[in-house]
Amino acid sequence: MDKFIVKGGNLLQGTVNISGSKNAALPIIASTILSDEKCVIKGVPLLRDVETLMQILGGLGVKAERQPNGDIETQVISEKNSVAGYDLVKTMRASVCVLGPLIAKRKYAKVSLPGGCVIGVRPIDLHEKGLRLLGADIDYQHGYLIARTKGLKGCNMYLGGTFGSTVTGTANVLMAAVLAKGKTVIENAACEPEVQDLTLFLSKMGAKIKGIGTHHLEIEGVKRLKGATHTVIPDRIETGTFIAAGALVGKNITIKNCRLDHLSAVIDNYAQMGVNVERISNTECRVRRVKTLRPLDITTLPYPGFPTDMQAQTMVMLTLADGISVVTERIYPDRFMHVAELNRMGAGIRKEGSYAVIQGRSHLSGAPVMASDLRASAAMVLAGLVATGTTEIQRVYHIDRGYEKIEAKLNALGADIQRVSDKVQSITDE
Ligand code: EPU
Repeated sequence: MDKFIVKGGNLLQGTVNISGSKNAALPIIASTILSDEKCVIKGVPLLRDVETLMQILGGLGVKAERQPNGDIETQVISEKNSVAGYDLVKTMRASVCVLGPLIAKRKYAKVSLPGGCVIGVRPIDLHEKGLRLLGADIDYQHGYLIARTKGLKGCNMYLGGTFGSTVTGTANVLMAAVLAKGKTVIENAACEPEVQDLTLFLSKMGAKIKGIGTHHLEIEGVKRLKGATHTVIPDRIETGTFIAAGALVGKNITIKNCRLDHLSAVIDNYAQMGVNVERISNTECRVRRVKTLRPLDITTLPYPGFPTDMQAQTMVMLTLADGISVVTERIYPDRFMHVAELNRMGAGIRKEGSYAVIQGRSHLSGAPVMASDLRASAAMVLAGLVATGTTEIQRVYHIDRGYEKIEAKLNALGADIQRVSDKVQSITDE
């Protein structure tokens, strides 16, 4: 298991290029199951989660290969096996994205249930609801979800639960509806940029989808989808993480290849803290350190609200703000594993149910800490960069799932992060 040793206090400057979005790339790659033709996906980040999904597709008879230029090319070779097993699915929740395409194209899917994870329970009842309404019979056996259909039929559905819309649930239902007979209407569809990117890719394949980017999607089923070429959107959470780094320790950081229009809530809230995200264009911005951050009251919400995936990183900033902040988590009420670790570094955070009260302090102090999930790991890296002394972050395998070359990118800006390998194998749990 690798760990990071972060020496705090360096000011960062230079230019960083944002990679393609993990959460856009994963369902897009899964959706290539829907076509018999070759697909080319460009801008896919080099991440463990992507490699895992390619392995799952391999097992499902889809040749998915990374080309020397970085593109991922896919081609369905055989439709004989439609079973996605526990060994790979348990390492990555997003592998549930193969369910929609399998049931739509092959009329059968057997997908291992991903299980719980540190950020919450994460049920898939809404995925199931949507697929049942489209005409799938769903059964649970020995830890697997088994879906069968004689043919999916379009219908009207409301796809929301206690915590609002569902990102991968919408992706799954959408990928099933594009080959269903007739028209499907999804009310309260998730409209995150990653879902929009999937709808764009499906449209290139020949799917008929209206309402892209809204909570109301109308899908007219087609008989078959052709191959397509697509470049995934830049990763808005990686962008947000570098903006946070800039606000904490940036002498002058230029962030390139981003999409600022996907980050309005983050930019607006950061402005309230005193952070100026200087917009050069929609794809490029500049951020500098703010000596005195103002406190904030934020609530995570579905897009275009403040993203839960930026909550932990933002909390690091608030531990150093001049006053008391409140962070309310409305997507994953238990996503606060980073609180105890930040408190080990001298932060003043009190967690109450689904919110945290943060008393800003003058500094954080480097300490040995544990990375609990992907975004919490990024938060620990940010905390280590701004803290005095050395921070040792254990279990950084989480970060390799979602941030392409994070330590290389930060070190190129002047950070001092060393990766130390303990040569012990681990599994991921998210
Ligand atoms: N929910 C249900 N039932 C369902 C599905 C979801 O109650 O059937 C609940 C969840 O428990 C949660 C809320 O609805 O409270 C939203 O969950 P959603 O389904 O939208 O999350 P997801 O699709 O599993 C994706 C991202 C997450 C990100 C969330 C929220 C991918 C692969 N994952 O998860 O990303 O936090 O949307 O924006 O797209 C990450 O990248 O670190 C990460 C966790």
